[in-house]
Amino acid sequence: MELAQQYGTPLYVMSEDEIRRVCRSYAGSFQEFYGGHGRPIYASKAFCCKEICRIVASEGLDIEVVSGGELYTALEAGVPGENIHFQGNNKTLQELQFALDSNVGDIVVDNLSELHALDRLAGTSNKTAKISLRIKPGIDAHTHEFIRTGQIDSKFGLDLASGEAFAAAKESRDLQNVKLIGLHCHIGSQIMEKEPFIHAAEVMLELYCQVTEEVGQELEHINLGGGFGIHYTEKDDFIPYNAYMEAVSQKLHALCKEKGIRLPKIFIEPGRSVVGEAGITLYTVGNIKKIPQVRNYVSIDGGMFENPRYALYQSDYTCLIANKANQPANYVATIAGKCCESGDLIQEHTNIQSPEEGDILAVLSTGAYNYSMASNYNRNLRPACVMVHKGESRVIIKGETYQDLLRNDV
Ligand code: LLP
Repeated sequence: MELAQQYGTPLYVMSEDEIRRVCRSYAGSFQEFYGGHGRPIYASKAFCCKEICRIVASEGLDIEVVSGGELYTALEAGVPGENIHFQGNNKTLQELQFALDSNVGDIVVDNLSELHALDRLAGTSNKTAKISLRIKPGIDAHTHEFIRTGQIDSKFGLDLASGEAFAAAKESRDLQNVKLIGLHCHIGSQIMEKEPFIHAAEVMLELYCQVTEEVGQELEHINLGGGFGIHYTEKDDFIPYNAYMEAVSQKLHALCKEKGIRLPKIFIEPGRSVVGEAGITLYTVGNIKKIPQVRNYVSIDGGMFENPRYALYQSDYTCLIANKANQPANYVATIAGKCCESGDLIQEHTNIQSPEEGDILAVLSTGAYNYSMASNYNRNLRPACVMVHKGESRVIIKGETYQDLLRNDV
């Protein structure tokens, strides 16, 4: 309530302690299960701004970026290029050149055309690009029960089943200006079970061995991607991150022992779980429209421009009236944004405390993929973000102004 009063609404609020707690728990798991042989990488697409990059990097995480803009942000936050992993299924030539110029430590190559373009650009720049290959391991964690298929319908990466991935490894060995150092996969997001991760690790280790033996290429690491689930509502039930880490590490250690090889460095690349539960969004309740036998629209001063996730994916959230948090939540509301669009909703038929105009509505677990997916739709202003730490708050992203909207208009 104090923050809403001090900074106004809508307002993104992030907890530094919570972000640091998750970073430390991942770093601790790497010590415990891999003896520090590998590390977590923060997938900055979940929430990319300078201060979050600084906090996460100060906890020893590398940063994954997926565009020139994210790369620029991480560099401006002081993250060395060496600690940056550059993903993306269609990086532009300018982005590849930017990565080379910034000495990015790991460019994750998605396809053969990119491999060749990067080799050419690196040659012209007199550099050797350190690369990983993005692999489609054939595991779909987003079906009701996850499945292993020969070939997933995905725009990302090199196909394993058809031999495309293996061929790309061979080809990169023969190129002058790239050095293959790793293999990468990412099997999905908001995953609640450990089995898909274990299978992915198994498949990737198999390819790692094949590349080492048959291509004769020494690799340094396997990156198993992100995807750990978080609590949006109390229905979300998943095992602690430590348990994923332990299960995958056990599998990898056992396989390496069986094959008589040394375990490669292992990376993981979580985004949502690093920042998701650290964030809440605060709104002021506006008008309330009760449509008998239909629903109760509770309007807020935000909407799909600052949180498009319900409009896009019908994502669940927990909502509450902050100034009545102790009262029973027995009012069924549809939380409506202020955009000129009927689908601009934050949640439908959700239980909150009895609302009145002027109340402060809080939506929980909005730290990931909210700010990062925000827009200026209807020329609404992207809200400010404040970071809370030990009872103090500070602005880490200023709220936009009308002048900001016109900055590039001619
Ligand atoms: N690595 C790669 C290559 C990825 O594509 C992603 C997410 C991650 C890591 C991080 O995954 P996480 O730990 O955050 O699940 N906008 C969607 C989520 C898209 C995720 C895309 N890739 C949402 O709001 O739910």
